[in-house]
Amino acid sequence: MGVPESGYKLPVPVDLRSDTVTRPGPEMLRAMMAAEVGDNVLEHDPTVHRLEKRAAELTGKEAAIFVPSGTMGNLCALLTHTRPGDSVVVEDQSHVFWYEGGGLGRIAGLASRTLRSEAGVWDLSELQSALMERSHHTPGTSLVCLESSHNRHGGAVLPMGFIHQTVELVHEFGAPVHLDGARAFNATRSLGTSIDQMVEPFDSLTFCLSKGLGCPIGSVLCGPADFISEAEYHRKRLGGGLRQAGYLAAAGLYALDHLVDRLDDDHARAQDLAGWCAGLPGLQPLPCPTNILILETEAPSAEWQARLEAEGVRTVPFGPYRLRAVTHLDVDDEGLAEAKEAFARVSEAL
Ligand SMILES: Cc1ncc(COP(=O)(O)O)c(C=O)c1O
Repeated sequence: MGVPESGYKLPVPVDLRSDTVTRPGPEMLRAMMAAEVGDNVLEHDPTVHRLEKRAAELTGKEAAIFVPSGTMGNLCALLTHTRPGDSVVVEDQSHVFWYEGGGLGRIAGLASRTLRSEAGVWDLSELQSALMERSHHTPGTSLVCLESSHNRHGGAVLPMGFIHQTVELVHEFGAPVHLDGARAFNATRSLGTSIDQMVEPFDSLTFCLSKGLGCPIGSVLCGPADFISEAEYHRKRLGGGLRQAGYLAAAGLYALDHLVDRLDDDHARAQDLAGWCAGLPGLQPLPCPTNILILETEAPSAEWQARLEAEGVRTVPFGPYRLRAVTHLDVDDEGLAEAKEAFARVSEAL
């Protein structure tokens, strides 16, 4: 079977809704089609095994496991670190709390304690008082989660000092810390650090292949070997034991080899768009350190979205007066220029 010479054309010219909308280009597809595969439930699919080994080496963790989604990776981490009835401390805008179908409560049986933050950075004394000892009455805190880069905080990147302070405090208390690193590589590019350095303090982390790294499906959960072995049991229980998943893992290996450094281009384009929008009436960009631009809008964001859509630019409302625009692999300079013109036209019309 032949592979298209150029990537698929998106149905609309510029899709800024999310970095999850990317479709594999010809080289990634070629790598997928050439994958050596096996039954990853009966035994190890060789390509999945290679990806897991690579992910563990890259992140400096003992082991890793391929999962179909970031949501399942985070849920496997929650299920493995905790017992039903425990409590977990999460940031109040975190993906794990907002957008994962309440799996932490419904499936993992956890009580969540949410903490407010400034761009993901919470007050350490508030964290200290949120950590709860287990007693006959209290659901002990058995896990703390952080997120970086942070989706609802416009791609904010947690500073290393804050990560170290949080992890030190939680470890002294006696609980582990999990990183929802769906966009961990965006964070490392922004920090100018390597992934193993950034995630070294964490007990476990999830990173996604299907966001800025451009893969169609897949995430990886990394951590200690015994933790990953237990997580594999939860993955199966959740229906995430995929058979010939090597086709997907091959895309992941391709992305780790070829598509990490280019995240800088996405960040530069998001910055460019932010600067452009700052000059347009009716729009106020929030700080944009990575690839997620949040714009405060004077007119309702639904109105902005509809008018931009009519101009061939897709965005998502992120609150009644907030619009989100995300740059990614399928937005090139030409696409960015089209988006800028569309924003200018809508700003003038509103
Ligand atoms: C920060 C963060 N964590 C986790 C996820 C979940 O990933 P998935 O959509 O693969 O379940 C997302 C998805 O957008 C995300 O932004």
